[in-house]
Amino acid sequence: MIKFSRLVVIASAFAGLAGFASSASADAAAGKATFTAVCSECHEVADFEGEDAAALQGTLKNIVAGTQKHKKALKLTDAQIADVAAYMASGK
Ligand code: HEC
Repeated sequence: MIKFSRLVVIASAFAGLAGFASSASADAAAGKATFTAVCSECHEVADFEGEDAAALQGTLKNIVAGTQKHKKALKLTDAQIADVAAYMASGK
């Protein structure tokens, strides 16, 4: 777990330096920006702390595909879903 968070921090810092978010790995910092812009109107990120990022991704994919009911229709790319899920699971 500690190793994983370090990896996320390093990956985010690297993406920031490079000036773009890698779509190959989840970027919690980019996810935070999306969450703040799109989700924070209705959600507190802390509510999702400790949830499984992969499970959250599955839920979000279903919401975007319209197969799972959600208060608001969501339009997110797969990369945005991965980033937002990483941010939500971190809870901050
Ligand atoms: C207009 C309000 C609104 C917005 C905006 C919104 N949601 Fe929701 N969302 C809800 C409500 C209401 C629920 C159902 C009650 C709950 O679980 O909190 C919900 C439920 C969820 C769930 C739980 C679904 C489940 O079955 O476990 C997830 C995950 C979620 N939202 C993610 C997001 C994400 C990510 C965003 C931004 C990209 C977002 N929501 C934007 C209102 C909103």
